[in-house]
Amino acid sequence: MKITIIGTGYVGLVTGTCFAEGGHEVTCVDSDVNKIKVLQQGGMPIYEPGLPELVKKNVAAGRLFFTSNTQEGVERSDFIFIAVSTPPQPDGSLDLSFVEKVSRDIASAMTSYKIILDKSTVPVRTGEKVAETIGRFSKGKVDFDVVSNPEFLREGSAIEDFMKPDRVVVGVSSPRPVEALKALYAPFDAPVIVTSIESAELIKHAANSFLALKISYINAVSVLCEATGANVQEVAHGMGMDPRIGRKFLDASLGFGGSCFPKDLSAFIATSEMLGYEFGLLKEVQKINLGQMDRFVKKITDTLWVVRDKTIGVLGLAFKQDTDDVRNSPAIDLCKRLQRAGARLRVHDPQAMEKAGAILKDVDYVADMNEVAEGCDALVIATEWPEFKKLDLDRARRCLSHPIIFDGRNLFDPVEMERLGFLYKGIGR
Ligand code: UGA
Repeated sequence: MKITIIGTGYVGLVTGTCFAEGGHEVTCVDSDVNKIKVLQQGGMPIYEPGLPELVKKNVAAGRLFFTSNTQEGVERSDFIFIAVSTPPQPDGSLDLSFVEKVSRDIASAMTSYKIILDKSTVPVRTGEKVAETIGRFSKGKVDFDVVSNPEFLREGSAIEDFMKPDRVVVGVSSPRPVEALKALYAPFDAPVIVTSIESAELIKHAANSFLALKISYINAVSVLCEATGANVQEVAHGMGMDPRIGRKFLDASLGFGGSCFPKDLSAFIATSEMLGYEFGLLKEVQKINLGQMDRFVKKITDTLWVVRDKTIGVLGLAFKQDTDDVRNSPAIDLCKRLQRAGARLRVHDPQAMEKAGAILKDVDYVADMNEVAEGCDALVIATEWPEFKKLDLDRARRCLSHPIIFDGRNLFDPVEMERLGFLYKGIGR
């Protein structure tokens, strides 16, 4: 099948590449000529495990193309995906101007029936607006269907998530495109759930907000664990064994971040407000998330007493493991707070140092994680990279002026750390 993806950001590029891997012929379009040039020359604008190999393989097989010409992209394919960004506005609602612009571009380029799928995360009722816009601007009144097809990829495991999805959601306003949509996703062996466009749009925001809620819930429980001497990992394990709850997304932390949860929560709250419902529960989820970072910073400042002119080592800058993405990263927020308190920082991240360099200045970027602790008064773990578990703890203990570790991701066993001579402070344990 012939597919065009408009928007070659994180979601667009992964989606396009995986569809090509599934055997379809895919054209990825982006208005950023430089990005397209990089991709055409075999480069990669983002870090995602497995993606460069898959892009290379499918380009070589003649199934994956890159262009900055929307007209060409639309003419070539029967399925047109909208995968452009929907940046947040100061009031939490989303700026949909890129979605609108692409809808108009598709409308003017269409000369035959197309199925237009929205992959961008959008508020409920956007599909209706996309259909209205395309209808208004299509020359010669060409026939089309608009479909809401939300994505559920996690950065760091996006390829696996796309190739083996739990479910594919397609929101339609008529049965006409359903068989074609099932055929489109046939290579991926996943249940295809057919809903109305509005339900599909709501599924995306409701799912992400619920996952964020789960994290805030366990983070709130972690406060009670610290107050009582309970262990939040034991509590999460005991709760998670109940299949109605599940263990996933019950890892207490210094808070969730990234380009999705914080933005989606704000947008869902703003949409609810526009629909006349005050979603107070989700406001509390945001509040708990902020409080978690406040408490972690307080733990550091209470322990070190005077932070000014202390040197702190920070392991992790990305918003989570297996990515170089630092957007809304709790680790970066933490670094900035420590800098404001007067600390000098030595930092390391396996992948995100280049991207962090643009937003985190006046710190020492250290290439080797085992050298971070040199000359430091304390070490902080801010991102759950699995390699941090292999930190040379003997060396860290010898390097630190006093062996103190603040672990915002609960990577180590507190009993073992104490045995090794550390003053070790995790979350909720
Ligand atoms: C999230 C969703 O998990 C995806 O299903 C969705 O498609 C995506 O948003 C999106 O809307 O595009 P992502 O933001 O890549 O994916 O990352 P997650 O793995 O969900 O982690 C989000 C944040 O929560 C990270 O900061 C992570 O460290 C934190 N987290 C996660 C916790 O603090 N505790 C947990 O138990 C799990």
